[in-house]
Amino acid sequence: MHLPESVRNLVLVGFMGSGKSSVGREIARRWGFRFIDTDTTIRHKYRKSIPDIFATFGEPFFRDEENKTLQELQASQEAVIATGGGIILQPRNHPLLRTLGVVVWLTASEETIWERVSRNQNRPLLRTNDPRTTIRNLMSTRYPLYGAVADITVETTGLTHQEVADQAVAALNGWSTA
Ligand code: S3P
Repeated sequence: MHLPESVRNLVLVGFMGSGKSSVGREIARRWGFRFIDTDTTIRHKYRKSIPDIFATFGEPFFRDEENKTLQELQASQEAVIATGGGIILQPRNHPLLRTLGVVVWLTASEETIWERVSRNQNRPLLRTNDPRTTIRNLMSTRYPLYGAVADITVETTGLTHQEVADQAVAALNGWSTA
């Protein structure tokens, strides 16, 4: 199944560690769509890692870059677009996300997010004394924002990336025929 004609792209939103990049890559592969990751676009533009961009230019700069990236993507078609977990923080990004295509929110339990993100150090916002509490606090402020922007929600806890991709595609099927 591909997207309905009227929908140009598939956009994945969700918290850090929800699997947006892996699931996005999998769906893009299945559909023969281009895969785009807003974090990767910004990393390549500055030839720096995300922690380096935060350290050198600061978070507001990074947030501006996220907005610019979404604006530049508006002409895209047949792409699966994974976004950074904080993309929903700026209200000006919401209409941009929604005009890009159908928005799928990948959710996961706090425990699952913790297991996934504690494996690496590439998330500057989690470099705190108590990252577990940081995750809990960020989740509680962000979940309503993901919910407000998403067309479809897929719960990923306990699922492989392939299974999440299956569920997202099945949910899209129901959504496009609803
Ligand atoms: C962020 C999430 C990260 C990255 C940056 C900020 C956030 O992306 O954009 O570290 O504010 O949640 P992932 O969601 O891909 O980890």
